[in-house]
Amino acid sequence: MTQRLTEKSARYAQISKEIDAVVGTEPDVTARMASIACLLSDAFDQYFWTGFYRVDPARPEELVVGPYQGSLGCLRIPFGKGVCGVAAATGETQVVPDVHAFPGHIACDARSRSEIVVPVRDPDGALIGVLDVDSTEMGAFDETDRIALETLMYACFAVRR
Ligand code: SME
Repeated sequence: MTQRLTEKSARYAQISKEIDAVVGTEPDVTARMASIACLLSDAFDQYFWTGFYRVDPARPEELVVGPYQGSLGCLRIPFGKGVCGVAAATGETQVVPDVHAFPGHIACDARSRSEIVVPVRDPDGALIGVLDVDSTEMGAFDETDRIALETLMYACFAVRR
């Protein structure tokens, strides 16, 4: 277990460096999100769907699908609905070991069994979207994933460059 945790932490440390090397000072948020989704998806076997939902400026209480890797995702998610909508409404990361036990979970793909959703903020602290990662395994995400992905989202979107 400790070995697995250490390996996962080391993998996150490595992929975070690679992401920084690729997106660097690129200011375009779509380019950053697309590259991050691609690199994260490639880095972990347990990542089945990896991508972003963005706050729609035209409908601020709604998320709209952004760059992702995986099977077809739902296009829009209202704040408060599903795992993504709850993460957006509360501003808190949601770690869901069993999606079927989460009230209101939105099943874009029936193969998803567990999920983590991390809020994404800009340098002013405004919510700009969420990172959503799904796995076909139960309980695929834990505190290691939460801390690593929150740290990565902060470094990639909340730090002024
Ligand atoms: N399951 C998510 C919806 C997005 S998809 O998994 C890609 C949710 O409940 O918010």
